[in-house]
Amino acid sequence: MTISIKNIEDIEKMRVTTRLAVEVLDMITPYVQAGVTTNELNQLCHNHIVNVQKAIPSPLNYKGFPKSICTSVNHQVCHGIPGKKKLKSGDILNIDITVQKNGYHGDTSRMFMIGKPSIRAKRLVEIAYECLWIGIHQVKPGGYLSEIGKAIQQHATSHKYSVVREYCGHGIGKNFHEEPQVLHYYCTDVKDIILQPGMTFTIEPMINAGKADIKLLPDQWTVVTKDHKLSAQWEHTLLVTEDGVEVLTLSQGEKQYA
Ligand code: MF3
Ligand code: CO
Ligand code: CO
Repeated sequence: MTISIKNIEDIEKMRVTTRLAVEVLDMITPYVQAGVTTNELNQLCHNHIVNVQKAIPSPLNYKGFPKSICTSVNHQVCHGIPGKKKLKSGDILNIDITVQKNGYHGDTSRMFMIGKPSIRAKRLVEIAYECLWIGIHQVKPGGYLSEIGKAIQQHATSHKYSVVREYCGHGIGKNFHEEPQVLHYYCTDVKDIILQPGMTFTIEPMINAGKADIKLLPDQWTVVTKDHKLSAQWEHTLLVTEDGVEVLTLSQGEKQYA
């Protein structure tokens, strides 16, 4: 397996799909409030993707995933399955949207804070966002893929947080997940890669308030922290350009971390 380099036509299609994924997050934002269930959020997103965008929610039936979006609450790290539990004030929630249109996928996720979050929760969410952006700032043609994880790990640990190791960012395009794997920590055991214009991949660090250890729930999807402390994650889909990086899932007015 090799890393696919996208040409102008591929990139144009990726721009369309990534834009749709961002639009779903923007659309759902006003509904993310105390009292709503994650099932209801799933249904709203599903209907928007299918009926308005005429696109396909990539998670639905992906390796048997039963819903159209992932919703991970509090100590859930990722791949939370939407369900009938209501969100309550103080919860933190990741909504992860992947859509497919014209044969290409776009993948992005954000954290939401319900009502009044604790200072501790807020801080974790903010540092996780900084981790994403510090990773993004490492991306340039000729640069090393490993710089991303190195910088993210450095930032997370400097705040006494830990980085989940079992799940990583990924190449994306015609496939939901393709090469390369984008680690969010530094690892010398894997072959490093030099970034080239036309590569498209995600960065999506999962940052834990406590230890890095995770476990899988019996539903075979939901990943939670072993110590039940909070976890936060943000995700963007990126394109390596001739002179740096383009954040394909950037939302209008998004506050970037320098
Ligand atoms: N969107 C997730 C990611 O960022 C993957 C979800 S897989 C699913 O890679 F099956 F849980 F949807
Ligand atoms: Co995602
Ligand atoms: Co992803």
